[in-house]
Amino acid sequence: MKILITGSNGLVGNAIHKLLTNSDHEHINSSWSLGGIASHVIDITDNESIEKVVDEFRPDAIINSAAMANVDNCEVERDKCWKVNVDGVKNLVNTCDNYGIHLVHISTDYIFDGKKVGGIYTEDDEPSPQGFYAESKLAGEKVILSSSVSSSILRTILVYGMHQRHNIVTFVKEKLEKGEKVNLVSDQVRMPTYVDDLARACISAAEKKAKGIFNISGDKHMSYLDIGNTIAEYFSLDKSLINHVKTSDLNQAAKRPLKTGFDLSKSISTLDYSATPFIDSLEFIFL
Ligand SMILES: NC(=O)c1ccc[n+]([C@@H]2O[C@H](COP(=O)([O-])OP(=O)(O)OC[C@H]3O[C@@H](n4cnc5c(N)ncnc54)[C@H](OP(=O)(O)O)[C@@H]3O)[C@@H](O)[C@H]2O)c1
Repeated sequence: MKILITGSNGLVGNAIHKLLTNSDHEHINSSWSLGGIASHVIDITDNESIEKVVDEFRPDAIINSAAMANVDNCEVERDKCWKVNVDGVKNLVNTCDNYGIHLVHISTDYIFDGKKVGGIYTEDDEPSPQGFYAESKLAGEKVILSSSVSSSILRTILVYGMHQRHNIVTFVKEKLEKGEKVNLVSDQVRMPTYVDDLARACISAAEKKAKGIFNISGDKHMSYLDIGNTIAEYFSLDKSLINHVKTSDLNQAAKRPLKTGFDLSKSISTLDYSATPFIDSLEFIFL
């Protein structure tokens, strides 16, 4: 297959690139400007830049990992957030429609309010976004679902892995290694997702042209505090540097769902998905 990645310099795009490099598929990496691993310029808010690359490369699938993904920035810079997360998706949908391309798009657990008893959401649960990022991501999903484009929407949760920009795992490990204190909440619970698992699922969705919404996450609920404690234990770092805080202690611009997790049965049966246990992923990330 020929696969085009948008947002390839990000955490998820980078992981997809690495897996595709060791596959039989041909792929190209793009971002809104050259640099990093991006060999082509696609700003998803600029239709012309999409069509130019698509017309030349003629992909079978586009994996869209481009987004404005900083939740608090989205709360403040609303126009920019909407332009990328909604209008950008509209542009990709139009191009996929024009060229008969399968679209794989990444969405988020934040479309839920986190109040469901047990905290395990299925693909069919009713969304209830709490902040502007969440609203924009849900609107992006709706743009795709209301089109006739062949598409897979992969919803995911708190993604971590090796990348030049910090995520929860690399951030906590580095802080503790430097002997610095770190504040972690115990009342926000997620099923953290190893980025390579998500990347594999994106590729599988492209290969199968799997239609619909799919849940992709780890298989275990963990609070941010649990994540920090597990990292400290695994790498024999000083746990006493971890400050246990509550969400209400943090002055975050965007409201977050308190507890989210996913029922993975549809992805396991349709995409052959399997979630790497958190402890095992720590070994792979820091090999
Ligand atoms: N990370 C998580 O915990 C998480 C959780 C749930 C869902 N998701 C979703 O997963 C997807 C990937 O997120 P990520 O964590 O990989 O985010 P990321 O690291 O911020 O990557 C997003 C990439 O998109 C690029 N980008 C921004 N605007 C663009 C535009 N107009 N055109 C082309 N590229 C553009 C960014 O460029 P710059 O590098 O220059 O900023 C960045 O490289 C997003 O849809 C996000 O909503 C992520």
